[in-house]
Amino acid sequence: MTQDLPVGAVTEFYETHPISEQQIIDKLQMDGVDPALVTEDILQDYDQDHYGGVAANDALAELASIDDGCHVLDVCCGLGGSCRYLAHNYECRVTGVDLTESRVEGAKRLTAMVGLGDRVAFQTANALDLPFGDGTFDAVISQEGFCHIPDKDRLVAQCVRVLKSGGRLAFTDILATDSTTQRTRQRLQRDMAFIELGSHNSYRTRLEREGCVVEVEDVGDVWRAILVDRLAMFRSLKDQTVERFGSSHFAKWDDTYSFFVGLYETGELGGGRFLAQPGHG
Ligand SMILES: C[S@@+](CC[C@H](N)C(=O)[O-])C[C@H]1O[C@@H](n2cnc3c(N)ncnc32)[C@H](O)[C@@H]1O
Repeated sequence: MTQDLPVGAVTEFYETHPISEQQIIDKLQMDGVDPALVTEDILQDYDQDHYGGVAANDALAELASIDDGCHVLDVCCGLGGSCRYLAHNYECRVTGVDLTESRVEGAKRLTAMVGLGDRVAFQTANALDLPFGDGTFDAVISQEGFCHIPDKDRLVAQCVRVLKSGGRLAFTDILATDSTTQRTRQRLQRDMAFIELGSHNSYRTRLEREGCVVEVEDVGDVWRAILVDRLAMFRSLKDQTVERFGSSHFAKWDDTYSFFVGLYETGELGGGRFLAQPGHG
């Protein structure tokens, strides 16, 4: 029962998010690209819903040693931008899972549009109950999704469980810092469905407890500038957001996102890029 509330808050947040399958298709059309003829080389610049675009995918691919022999799991895959990018550019197989069904359905359609359906598959699933056997994947990745997930011990254990021996977990996440106040955590929980924020140290401790060797890169400073641009991007989507969800939704989103971006200026939020290798701890 206690799990029901967070799950509903997360799916509602993403069902009313300014970035959507339709918004991606509209943007392609506005730029003169016929969605029926789009290729992954073009789509990859429209469908990345994490910080740092395709370069962030390359950074994780390098950390996780992803190549054409790999089967990769993308946890919290959203609309599947990273899944398609990795399959296309690294020729690997990718499975994406996400809690929000409309995201998964959108991911499937966008993937079929660019003809990658033979190498990229999606399932609606909760990261806390990954529907895969032990030792299924060569690499597990995730980007800016874990902040929505309670019970980080279980989350980390699930990601490690589905890795093959010698596999690698590489992910980025929005992190609390020493100066994150309780008031800020509560507002982010209420308005952005950030159910539980991890930190550099809390992830490191949990991953080491799972027997992993851990490397952490602080990406908070890099994200600060990216997030200022992202706020401007959301503002540029004002007309579409108002049309889909109404002006009060846009105003609330703008207020919330400005607050969120400001937390990177004050140091109340940070970011981390993690590599965890089980069996080496
Ligand atoms: C910021 S989006 C990231 C999208 C994607 N990683 C990308 O880079 O385009 C976060 C995603 O996490 C998903 N999510 C949140 N909680 C989840 C959970 N418990 N299990 C699976 N997915 C979850 C949300 O539905 C949302 O699509």
